Amino acid sequence: MAVLTIKNLAKTFGVGTAKASRVLDDISFEVRGGTFVSIVGPSGCGKSTLLNIISGVEEHTSGDISLTSDSGGPARMGYVFQDPRLLPWRSVMRNMMYVQDDQSEATKARARKYLDMVGLAKNADFFPGQLSGGMQQRVGIARAFAVEPDLLLMDEPFSHLDAITARGLRAQLQDIWAQSKKTVVFVTHDVVEAVELSDRIIVLQPGGKIYEDISIDLPRPRRQTDPTVATLQAEVLGRLEAMKAISRTPEAVA
Ligand SMILES: Nc1ncnc2c1ncn2[C@@H]1O[C@H](COP(=O)(O)OP(=O)(O)OP(=O)(O)O)[C@@H](O)[C@H]1O
Ligand SMILES: [Mg+2]
Repeated sequence: MAVLTIKNLAKTFGVGTAKASRVLDDISFEVRGGTFVSIVGPSGCGKSTLLNIISGVEEHTSGDISLTSDSGGPARMGYVFQDPRLLPWRSVMRNMMYVQDDQSEATKARARKYLDMVGLAKNADFFPGQLSGGMQQRVGIARAFAVEPDLLLMDEPFSHLDAITARGLRAQLQDIWAQSKKTVVFVTHDVVEAVELSDRIIVLQPGGKIYEDISIDLPRPRRQTDPTVATLQAEVLGRLEAMKAISRTPEAVA
């Protein structure tokens, strides 16, 4: 199983300039294969920067990062962003296939399987402009899973959606994850969302240090309506009370 290992990672933007700013500071953690780990923290604490470093889009300043793949070959990564980033002139299916290395029938069948899992099998020939925001985001999620990545990176994928749509997509994500058992690193500023989805929550504090590393030991599937989920959500929120600016969704305070 893929394992992500990060040791003493630091990131400073603008090294050697007057504007140098340290965004990540001495970050160390390991993500075991098949687990769902969330990175939580207030805006600007370096969550997206960390994800970009893991994906290789951004260089780190010091420390080590390694990812072992399931196959023994180069590790494959999938990325789901805040916005779905679909190409508007391509159909749903052609957006699904755009990120694939090959266009074989087996790959198409896999793309269809994941589209089906997000309930969009019937929309394969639609164009993004014919889909709601939530449907577009479901295509983005299906597309990332269909790559069958060793590591799936998700950066606040539900933050642009209304609360009801986001709740539905979280349930759907849990179902797909339970079937695929992919290794996921999921960024969110929402502790409540993190408790619902994760095996473990790594809390970053402003300045980019790890504030707390919390195991979430709850049976799955987890539903917002389950009182044990709500109780743990309230407890984790309470533990992070000292850190301002961590969001509380209306569901959390209800
Ligand atoms: N390319 C860059 N050059 C300089 N500074 C940057 C760059 N990218 C990010 N930063 C700075 O790094 C800090 C962390 O940004 P980052 O986007 O990682 O935060 P975040 O935790 O993802 O925030 P949010 O929750 O708002 O998405 C911010 O102060 C930001 O201004
Ligand atoms: Mg961000």
